[in-house]
Amino acid sequence: MGVRKMTTEAATFTAPDHVPPDRVVDFDMYHPPGVEKGFHAAWKKLQDEAVGDIVWTPRNGGHWILTRGRAIHDVFADYQRFSNKCILVPKEVGEKHTLLPTTIDPPEHRPYRMLLNSGLTPAAVRRIEGSIRQLAGSLIEQVRAEGRCNFTTAYAEKLPIHIFLMLVDLPVEDAPKLKYWADQMTRPDGSMPFEDATRAFYDYLDPVVDRLRERPGDDMLSHLVNGEVDGRKVTKDEALALSAQVLIAGLDTVVNFLSFAMLFLARNPDHRQELVDNPELMPKAVEELFRRFPLVTIGRLVKEDTRFDGVSLRAGDMVIVPTELHGLDERENRCPMDVDFHREDISHSTFGYGPHRCPGMHLARAELAVTLEEWLSRIPDFQVAPDADITYRGGLVGCIDALPLVWSTEKPRAVPLAGGADQGTA
Ligand code: HEM
Repeated sequence: MGVRKMTTEAATFTAPDHVPPDRVVDFDMYHPPGVEKGFHAAWKKLQDEAVGDIVWTPRNGGHWILTRGRAIHDVFADYQRFSNKCILVPKEVGEKHTLLPTTIDPPEHRPYRMLLNSGLTPAAVRRIEGSIRQLAGSLIEQVRAEGRCNFTTAYAEKLPIHIFLMLVDLPVEDAPKLKYWADQMTRPDGSMPFEDATRAFYDYLDPVVDRLRERPGDDMLSHLVNGEVDGRKVTKDEALALSAQVLIAGLDTVVNFLSFAMLFLARNPDHRQELVDNPELMPKAVEELFRRFPLVTIGRLVKEDTRFDGVSLRAGDMVIVPTELHGLDERENRCPMDVDFHREDISHSTFGYGPHRCPGMHLARAELAVTLEEWLSRIPDFQVAPDADITYRGGLVGCIDALPLVWSTEKPRAVPLAGGADQGTA
């Protein structure tokens, strides 16, 4: 394959011959320009300035980036041309990651997905909603009297992992180490090699999976590790891999999404009040927040030479699919940067689309709805701490570094907002 030398304001680099020069941008998905001050604004800028629905960047080994909602939707759906065999850039790094069922394509992918889906249905989520609500309430009670907290560490980082530990009857004291290993696998800070973190994570889950295979409970994980694939019971290795994937996929995403949603509400008293006054708006508000604050950027491997949006893609090229740019696309949603809890026909790919669409989406929606209900019923008025400097980072999952919140403890108001343990929100 031929290459061409090119120069931008920032760098000189080479681009393959099949990349039209007008499609070249200088964009690093791990450090989008301006990301520190605004994660979504940084992605939106790329969309606003892009000359097509697909552009190419020399960063991270060189890869394509989709810029529009329709293109994102189409590539997610088209597993025949766009494979999940490699989902990370640089490609050499992505090729080392084998995750079940994320890095396999249909038809092999299907039986694993059916198994995952069956454990994470809306009905299965409704069954544990009461427990999620209890947990959410107790985490908020731990900080309410203080009048301040770092929401990220005091609540968002704890909720999803405590739910998991509670479901499989493990001590909550294990949460910090599990979170640390998961972080080293998804956003390493260099303190532990990826391989060591993965091994520690699997070593922890190993006896848990054994126990649940010998003495299954009525929980989601028991269901998963004892399920059937192609008419046979899943093997121990498959059970371990599927459990690890469910746990990891539901951590960083939920932690950061809850922080984005709460940051928005902390800065927007009218929206807060609207939810306090109209609890029935919650399901629509939840969907609108997922549209407005998408945060996963995932890759696909081009399987064969093909054409897309007027350009040639070569077999082996990587394409980045930023879910951020679907919900924020004005061709898909009017005034996309505004949050409107009454918006009709919401269009987004925040949970992906097609065969790999997030099986945890019903759980994620419930975690957000319960969080908002439980928080607003106890702390209806809150703001970002005046001295706080909110900073963001890019990556596979967009991230808020810390979210310091403050509220008055003088006149605690009881607001009957919580939907109650039996009310489905999924
Ligand atoms: C804010 C919350 C969440 C967001 C935004 C999110 C987003 C996504 C996206 C975009 C994908 C598609 C990846 C692809 O196309 O390759 C995905 C896959 C996945 N998600 Fe989620 N997710 C969230 C929460 C969860 C939760 C709570 C769980 C677990 C209970 C979970 C489990 C998974 C799994 C297992 C996959 C892989 C599915 C497959 O490859 O077939 N996610 N998620």
